[in-house]
Amino acid sequence: MEWNMIIGVLVVVSSVVVLVYLRKKRDHEVQNRINNNDDGVIGDGFVVPKGSWGWPLIGETLDFIASGYTSKPVTFMEKRRSLYGDVFKTNILGKPIIVSTDADVNKMILQNHGNVFIPCYPKSITDLLGKSSILQTNGPLHKRVHSLIGVFLKSPQFKARITKDIENAVRLSLATWMNQSSRVYLQHEVKKITFEILVRVLMSIGPGEEMNLLKKEFEEFIKGLICIPINLPGTRLYKSLKAKKRLLKIVKRIIEERKMNMENKEEKRLPNDAIDVLLSEIGESDEMLTIDSISDNVVEMMIPGEETVPTSMTLAVKFLSDNPLALARLVEENLELKKRKEQSCEEYSWTDYMSLQFTQNVINETLRLANIINAVWRKALKDVKIKGYLIPKGWCVLASFSSVHMDKTNYENPYEFDPWRWKKTGAAVSSNIFTPFGGGQRLCPGLELSRLEISIFLHHFATTYRWDAEKDEIIYFPTVRMKRKMPITIMPLQHC
Ligand code: HEM
Repeated sequence: MEWNMIIGVLVVVSSVVVLVYLRKKRDHEVQNRINNNDDGVIGDGFVVPKGSWGWPLIGETLDFIASGYTSKPVTFMEKRRSLYGDVFKTNILGKPIIVSTDADVNKMILQNHGNVFIPCYPKSITDLLGKSSILQTNGPLHKRVHSLIGVFLKSPQFKARITKDIENAVRLSLATWMNQSSRVYLQHEVKKITFEILVRVLMSIGPGEEMNLLKKEFEEFIKGLICIPINLPGTRLYKSLKAKKRLLKIVKRIIEERKMNMENKEEKRLPNDAIDVLLSEIGESDEMLTIDSISDNVVEMMIPGEETVPTSMTLAVKFLSDNPLALARLVEENLELKKRKEQSCEEYSWTDYMSLQFTQNVINETLRLANIINAVWRKALKDVKIKGYLIPKGWCVLASFSSVHMDKTNYENPYEFDPWRWKKTGAAVSSNIFTPFGGGQRLCPGLELSRLEISIFLHHFATTYRWDAEKDEIIYFPTVRMKRKMPITIMPLQHC
């Protein structure tokens, strides 16, 4: 027994010694490279950001993940920012990376003049993405797909039509909640609503067997987005890739049928969904889209849309539940609209929802505080000089939105849920210091659709029910969500 203990201690001590040695050696090598100028410090006063590489192999990943499990995940950034400045270097999730917590540097990265930055996701994600998807492509093909989808999702015709679909999905879903012994897991319920809308937007599939099959395969597929990137039978990545194959097969069949229908019909009609939009660009040359690349795009557009909207809805309700004053104001504003509509017997239009000013401020504040997409990852294709810093060619860079959103120089009492702050700042919802939807070339094309979905949900939810929320907490790693899926007990709201 004693010998076992001694051997155990020796193993631990020698491992620590080896790790310390390797860390020192690596820091020394990196410093040498910097001193020799092949890694970055150049004239003109531009410097490679300071920082630490942490331990060999794992870098500073453990500290990064540990902060993700606290209520303040930006602590990792804050600690390094105070040591090294607003832009620093580190090594997380297997990548040496430069982190920017500076709003101006983030803006330049997002704007990407000269196309020097390309997306740079962790390996498990890139393994699961198709080569021609909007999330992976760069240059003219990316620009075209981005603009086609963006223009379509922003068009007033689309918004008018989708408003009806969202209303129907929300109303039908809310009506079933009272049958479930009046206790519901909000995060779970809203996910059903938003998936239905997403599939309708992308491929006009309504509730039924096909939608259920898509949901099943998609859920299996995205489980692998954050996993160990080993593709062997039985591994998570392997199962996800198989599910993606099946998903692509279903989507490809839907696209082929649509193409045949379009060819049989002479007259041109306005696009109904993302498939219609992308099919209008199909062609033979390398520059054009193909059935396969459209299938890839449709499946992969489900990734950024699937979690983000239901999480925003859930967290808006969570923040409101914790802030009775804000909740009362939101209910008041929405009941006014509801009464107006009932009295005039008019239908709602998308502009009705978007003109609910306090509700819009609640959505802004939720997006700021929740940081659902907390950062974007890029890789520099050549040396880039920004605000005194040099980002060397080939390095990854992480533009941290949450650091900017939670910085007290940008927002007073940043950890407080204060929808009224947006009244003071005016409508600065797309400034340098508020980027929940990213910006520049890759600004989220689902921005307006998301805001509309959240507004419609909050309107009908807050004017149909009042609720008691059970104790629950927000988890920030690997993605933002509620630990217990946000259980609430609902009661019909009596109003006259
Ligand atoms: C609250 C909800 C949402 C948030 C916070 C959000 C956030 C973001 C962010 C930050 C980006 C930029 C990524 C980057 O620069 O690399 C992005 C891109 C994207 N989003 Fe969203 N998103 C939301 C909802 C949606 C929805 C509903 C859809 C689909 C209909 C969607 C589709 C996309 C697509 C296709 C891209 C890639 C754009 C490109 O690379 O050109 N998003 N989103």
